[in-house]
Amino acid sequence: MPAYFDFLLHGLALARTRKMLSFEQVKRSLENAGQPHVLQFWPELCEGDRESFLQELSQLDLQGLRDHCEGAAKAAASPSASLDQYVEPVPPQSIGSVRKSDRDSLAAWENEGLMQISKNRVGVLLLAGGQGTRLGVQYPKGMYNVGLPSGKTLYQIQAERIHKIQELADVKHGSKCTIPWYIMTSEFTLAPTEKFFKEANYFGLEPSNIFFFEQRMIPAVTFDGKVILQGKGKIAMAPDGNGGLYQALRDNMVLEDMKKKGVEYLHVYCVDNILVKMADPVFIGFCLYKGADCGAKVVEKAHPAEPVGVVCRVQGISQVVEYSEIQPETAELRGPGGELVYSAGNICNHFFTRAFLQDVAEKFEGQMKQHVAMKKVPFVDTRGNQVKPTNPNGIKMEKFVFDVFPFSRNFVVFEVVREDEFSPLKNADGAATDSPTTSRNSLLAQHCRWAMAAGAKLLDEHGNTLPTTASVSAGDNTPAHCEISPLVSYFGEGLEPLLKGKTLPTPFILDKKQAEELQAQKHFSDEQSTM
Ligand code: UD1
Repeated sequence: MPAYFDFLLHGLALARTRKMLSFEQVKRSLENAGQPHVLQFWPELCEGDRESFLQELSQLDLQGLRDHCEGAAKAAASPSASLDQYVEPVPPQSIGSVRKSDRDSLAAWENEGLMQISKNRVGVLLLAGGQGTRLGVQYPKGMYNVGLPSGKTLYQIQAERIHKIQELADVKHGSKCTIPWYIMTSEFTLAPTEKFFKEANYFGLEPSNIFFFEQRMIPAVTFDGKVILQGKGKIAMAPDGNGGLYQALRDNMVLEDMKKKGVEYLHVYCVDNILVKMADPVFIGFCLYKGADCGAKVVEKAHPAEPVGVVCRVQGISQVVEYSEIQPETAELRGPGGELVYSAGNICNHFFTRAFLQDVAEKFEGQMKQHVAMKKVPFVDTRGNQVKPTNPNGIKMEKFVFDVFPFSRNFVVFEVVREDEFSPLKNADGAATDSPTTSRNSLLAQHCRWAMAAGAKLLDEHGNTLPTTASVSAGDNTPAHCEISPLVSYFGEGLEPLLKGKTLPTPFILDKKQAEELQAQKHFSDEQSTM
């Protein structure tokens, strides 16, 4: 179980800029760090492997290695500090809510968000450095095709939503705006992600507005503080968690790029939520109305054991507590109306001002918590055999993206509707939740609701009329195959002129071309009726 761990870890992670050291220098440093075993198989390595190993080791901050290894072992050995006695819920009055807000407020926030987008002040930042272990694929999660009728991947869906929201801002404000897309990858995901985007012609976005960068990697360590060898000439390295973002922003001059482009506000999100509202103008507008420098979107937790972090207060300070960091008894607490006390489920959608990120990068990054995760790390044993452990054998240290919330001056929480905005892809098919099937169904159900709300009648494959809006939800096992391209509608808007009064047999795919045809038909019949 992960534990909180507060030691500071500066510069240990792999930074790709250091010059190559000699074998003697590396050997001495490893001995000083108490890690001479790292070179145990050196005599067996061929020339090429020696060079790449030396290269890898030269990139490590060998000075900090002893502290890292000892610290990780110590953290793993100490029982996790229970946060239960310190937590309290965020007071309801400090949570903005889509459900509880009136139309005028929602419209005002949306207008504000669109206006900022039209002025090129908004960027989006994708956290895509994770390894997607639970999903069990060898490639980046964003490249996953959940089996929609269109066959679109998560990356494509996100790209198309960027196109559309730019267009909506342009139409409203007569602009020609751009939302730069910052994509944080890791050693595992950078090359395949870049290749995928290139092959897809950047989904029609301007390549110079897509900024790929890489987070750092840190060594995995055994429970007794030894660096794990993944191969005879390779250390087991892991990304430093999605909170590695702030170091990576600095390493890669991302904030400078934002400043150059005039981007003041950033929507940060995780790769796996098929319903993510890219650069959501309502959320951005809400945060700006509240004068926030930092914000988090939440949904009401589905049940006490749902594996999502909870936004709450710890000793009076707002932050996210991961599901593994509070006891089930606390997670199960209910209020007088039967509602969960800790119900603000983090959906990893955050708002930051550039000024706040600048502060974090310059002043606070070094104070971020380290979290300890026990993992099964494949390794070579002392006799050189490759071992795939069946139980956790290694410690990975991680930072979490939300651990900067306590540094903010004005942090806000924004509650959105789960079935509209949250359906993450975490697990392989077969799992009851958060799988390719559940993600696909959530999106299709949403698009059925949109089509019906626009006045269309949907027919199932037997020609029977599908039930009305309310009964089509992600809870249905197989919603009708109705898929609407994000290039046509970002969040259900603009469909009425195309679909009102139409009877649509499913499967039905509304892509850009078909939308244009429907639009042309409508013009034609409008003209006929006025003649
Ligand atoms: C995350 C949140 C959790 C939230 C849940 C909602 C964190 C730490 N936890 O949990 O509070 O309830 O999403 O779905 O944010 N990533 C990197 N680099 C890394 C590790 C991860 O970029 O080193 C990225 C992943 O690619 C992914 C995102 O961070 O896009 C979230 O990572 P993941 O490990 O899936 O977090 P969860 O445990 O699902």
